[in-house]
Amino acid sequence: MASTHIAGPYTRVAGLGRAVPDRVLTNADLERMVDTTDQWIVERTGIRERRILPEGQATSDLAAAAARSACQQAELPVTQLDALIVATITPDTQAPATAVYVQQKLGLSQIPAFDIAAACAGFVYGLGIADAMLQSGRYKCVLVVGAEILSRITDWTDRTTCVLFGDGAGAAVLTRAEAGQGQRLIDVSLGADGAHAAQLEIPGGGSREPTTQTTVEQRRHVVRMNGRQVFTQAVKNMSAAAATVLERNGRTTADVDVVFAHQANLRIIEGISQRTGIPLERFFNNIEKYGNTSSASVPIAMSEAVEQGRLKRGDLALLTALGAGVAWGSALIEW
Ligand code: ACO
Repeated sequence: MASTHIAGPYTRVAGLGRAVPDRVLTNADLERMVDTTDQWIVERTGIRERRILPEGQATSDLAAAAARSACQQAELPVTQLDALIVATITPDTQAPATAVYVQQKLGLSQIPAFDIAAACAGFVYGLGIADAMLQSGRYKCVLVVGAEILSRITDWTDRTTCVLFGDGAGAAVLTRAEAGQGQRLIDVSLGADGAHAAQLEIPGGGSREPTTQTTVEQRRHVVRMNGRQVFTQAVKNMSAAAATVLERNGRTTADVDVVFAHQANLRIIEGISQRTGIPLERFFNNIEKYGNTSSASVPIAMSEAVEQGRLKRGDLALLTALGAGVAWGSALIEW
């Protein structure tokens, strides 16, 4: 899915928002839960703490809060939205889509609301879909939310995965705008390779392995991952996706002001920096505070970067993400 639209109506990132739970789970807390150390986690991942949603709340609660904050930043009432996309691998329920719960929480009805499952690349996939919807002329204002409660699909007895994940939501309001207003989504590039599907999966609970007492006992409903293979795929494909979107828009790595790479592991981000030649200082990172929040990581980072003045008018922002599938996506935004 590609689009280069310099003149005329373009897709504008009119506002960004985020919502993270208050409760902090530190590496010291994890030391008391599994056989790990703060030093191991920091050295191998860059993560110091992550947020955990309290029981009783669900993905749609955080998604709706992030959505409201994005609309506020865009100075648009939520009633202006004419489509709602939620990227998540931790839906409230198996059915219906989490997006309809978000719709309800925002007090909306009638507008299309649906989920997409592209794991950590979900937000960038959402941008690509929203861009196509806006460019078709049939929609004027589309909300894309990346929201995950990964704490609910984490095996808290498995030290190789439980140190990585956290909860959070990030959102973007995309509008069909006239030239000259800034925050222009230049292009989105998406890809996937199912040959690597087994590297990261939640095997139980779907049509292949419906939930039974045995699947529960065997912990088939939590994340299973081959960390080393995912690591290699992440560095390779996020770097390649970044190169693709730059090249086809006649830009080089030297033109990039800020990189928003999926916050999976600081060492993965260092690998992307080395492979692409983009200096590490140009990457905006907040993994230390939130861990890996999957589809929420890129919009949370962008929202913080705007607030901190790290993403300024005229800057060229490069987004790159990869997740289970493997599925990946990259995007360019002229802020
Ligand atoms: N604390 C202490 N020791 C640990 C821990 C822990 N939390 N976890 C693993 N170890 C041990 C292992 O058991 C192993 O011990 P051994 O040598 O005695 O067998 C040793 O540490 C090294 O383990 P590796 O798996 O080789 O460690 P590695 O350096 O590869 O780091 C990690 C593991 C952090 C999971 C890394 O592979 C990684 O980040 N992979 C990417 C995974 C990821 O980001 N997934 C998220 C979803 S996909 C995405 O978002 C892109």
